[in-house]
Amino acid sequence: MSSLKNKNILLGITGSIAAYKAGQILRLLGKKEAKVYPIMTEAATHFVHPLTFKALASEEVTYKLFKEERGAEHISLARLADLLLIAPTTANIIGKIAHGIADDILTTTVLAVDCPVVIAPAMNHYMYKNPLVQENIKRLRKFGFKFIGPEEGKLASGEMGPGRISEPFKIVEYVEKVIKSKNDFKGKTFLITAGPTRERLDRVRFISNYSSGKMGYALAEEGIARGAKIILVSGPSSLDPPSNVEFYSIESAEEMRREVKCRFAEMDGVLMAAAVSDYRPLYTEEGKIKKISQEKINLKLIRNQDILKEIGNKKGDKILVGFCAEVENLEDEARIKLKEKNLDLIVANNITLEGAGFGVDTNIVTLIDKKGNIEYLSKMSKREVAEKIWDKIKELMNVQS
Ligand code: CTP
Repeated sequence: MSSLKNKNILLGITGSIAAYKAGQILRLLGKKEAKVYPIMTEAATHFVHPLTFKALASEEVTYKLFKEERGAEHISLARLADLLLIAPTTANIIGKIAHGIADDILTTTVLAVDCPVVIAPAMNHYMYKNPLVQENIKRLRKFGFKFIGPEEGKLASGEMGPGRISEPFKIVEYVEKVIKSKNDFKGKTFLITAGPTRERLDRVRFISNYSSGKMGYALAEEGIARGAKIILVSGPSSLDPPSNVEFYSIESAEEMRREVKCRFAEMDGVLMAAAVSDYRPLYTEEGKIKKISQEKINLKLIRNQDILKEIGNKKGDKILVGFCAEVENLEDEARIKLKEKNLDLIVANNITLEGAGFGVDTNIVTLIDKKGNIEYLSKMSKREVAEKIWDKIKELMNVQS
């Protein structure tokens, strides 16, 4: 049975030359027995007449914010939606959505939905590459909006470049994947650790690292979007905890260890994205360490327990995911850690690469699973990396069950 059967798909159509392709998308969705509700912006109606979609769609075409007989259309459409697909999506609509502007039937619906939103951009390549558009796309990805395309090719202007809307069949395949993955982890509980730990030297100083928490928080957001219950144990971070997670704020590795260990038994899996300090000061000064006359001072450090290794020893059939940040011998180091800590999956990144590692919004990672399968991911947003990691976890769980 098609995963789209009887699913309510809102199909947003915006003012692009590619608007005619929405007709093909609509037919493909219809073939898969989805109920499609076209929503056109005013600009879209200049490219394709609403009657075209009326003839093709099983449901009514909407292109006005208010209808006299039914009132606020965006709310009723939003409530029934399983997914909102906007194809094609112009730079203008991307900009509006990225800034919460809601001044027509489509953008108001976007604000009102509580379902995945898939965006298929279509525009001139200069517009697509414009830093403002890229910034807006980045912002939307961060909030969990999903993107398909655009692709490289000949554009309406005759120029070549990225900006072509993806092929209708690819868009529909992606919609199917998103709908299916919505309940991937329903009934499952995962604990995610994120951010750095702080190891206190005295009342005002600590040892820590540059971890921002972005990767762990992105994993939490994506996990929630796929139906999992998420417990997030985080070291100090400037990020707001994602909504709907059970959140525990900790400071030291030992505090993180306590939180992880006391919850481990009830978990279906643990994702240790935190950059846990390997050492802590042997002594913590109650007050403040004062300067002394000597030029050099010695700091004595003691090893912290390896949380992941500890839980790896009693893993059972739980899924364990570790992370490692390396500067050389990435794959070898990752494989050693995978084995030593008894993991199902390790996410390795080379922090010397531009666009990877601490603080930045993107990452370049390699996934290695316990069977030795290896997947090299290109540079992508941390939210997309999170998507890939959850895909892999799903695969590993399917193999296990
Ligand atoms: N980890 C942990 N407890 C620690 C240290 C690390 O659970 N005390 C986890 C991290 O959350 C991460 C993985 O182990 O998932 C990283 O492994 P680790 O061997 O610590 O990697 P590095 O810190 O990169 O190690 P090294 O400095 O030895 O390369």
